[in-house]
Amino acid sequence: MFKWDTLIINATIATMEEGSLAYGMIEKGALGILNGRIEWLGTTAGIKNSIETLAKELIDAEGCLLTPGLIDCHTHLVFGGNRADEFEQRLNGVDYQEIARNGGGILSTVRATREASFDELYQQSLPRFQALISEGVTTVEIKSGYGLDFESELKMLQVAKKLGDEHGIQVKTTLLAAHAVPPEYKDNADGYVDVICTEIIPKIAGLNIADCVDAFCEGIGFSYEQTKRVFDAAARWGLPVKLHADQLSDLNGAALVAEYAGLSADHVEYTSLKSVKAMAKAGTVAVLLPYAFYVLKETKLPPIEAFRKHNVPIAISTDCNPGTAPSSSLLTTMNKACVAFSLTPEEVLTGVTRNAALALGIEDEVGSIEFGKKADLVLWNIKHPADLCYWQGLNRVQRIFK
Ligand code: NIG
Ligand code: FE
Repeated sequence: MFKWDTLIINATIATMEEGSLAYGMIEKGALGILNGRIEWLGTTAGIKNSIETLAKELIDAEGCLLTPGLIDCHTHLVFGGNRADEFEQRLNGVDYQEIARNGGGILSTVRATREASFDELYQQSLPRFQALISEGVTTVEIKSGYGLDFESELKMLQVAKKLGDEHGIQVKTTLLAAHAVPPEYKDNADGYVDVICTEIIPKIAGLNIADCVDAFCEGIGFSYEQTKRVFDAAARWGLPVKLHADQLSDLNGAALVAEYAGLSADHVEYTSLKSVKAMAKAGTVAVLLPYAFYVLKETKLPPIEAFRKHNVPIAISTDCNPGTAPSSSLLTTMNKACVAFSLTPEEVLTGVTRNAALALGIEDEVGSIEFGKKADLVLWNIKHPADLCYWQGLNRVQRIFK
């Protein structure tokens, strides 16, 4: 009888476990997997018995890096159509918010998403999903928010679930019905918020198909008061919340989501020190989205120093969406987080593993390599974790364990 299903030896293990060691590193590490769980973790020298007899499969990593599976904790990767035309308009001087106010932006993707059948939406979203997971992403959060009515929001969430199921990838779904005001409610945002609170949230909660509720609290989205109503409805239905907060202006969104003990406040470029303190108190994660920052040519940096000072956990994500973050590469985003936000490679790797798990409320299962957690791992063809953030355009995934 073998003790483990798989034994990995001679790996440079970035456990990402919290503690004093950089990256929670174990040099020449060994890891035993049984029934999909981490059942042994230590150094290769620490294994006493003859190694060949211990596991069905023995992998000699030859010094290569082993990390937790990467987690992309904020994506809009299920959507119909394409907005390359708006990308071009923006480069010809038209501003993102102006495009939105003229019925483009999110609403142009809403039209294409509503028109797409379930299968069309699945087929259009599939390459983006596959690109993400080919880079070692083993958990993906996917939001609705381009349907803006019950049926279309449900269709998006069902496509998201199917992507996960078909690929053996953990997908966490988020209801983002409060992403924009749909054309049928033009000039009646409060009427649409009523529909979200009395119809969409209750029905989605009843179907148990969303793990969380999100909103876009912004001048071109929903006000503080409207967001509060959405959060109250989420609370009534037992759903945790997160928020697109303070992306283009400071509406106290991060403080609001903290008030509801939300999982995360995302974007947060314009977040005030007061809101940072509220997040720290509530344990709300700051999800930074450097790709959207870069595409919008934003100049206002998130209050990173304040997050560090007040121990607000920082996560990093692609924001994969057709408007502000046309990218399905988490590795590229990680590089941007280093260069544009001056985060260290260790902060960034923490941001796509341990802290991204926190932002999704799944930190007990994934996000670090620890005894008893899921054997959700990536073996890379590199020796040092900083290399993940450093070089662009090479995918060094050697093997994914899920
Ligand atoms: O995270 N800020 C709102 N939502 C997306 C953009 C959506 C879009 O432009 O389609 C974001 O940046
Ligand atoms: Fe987003």
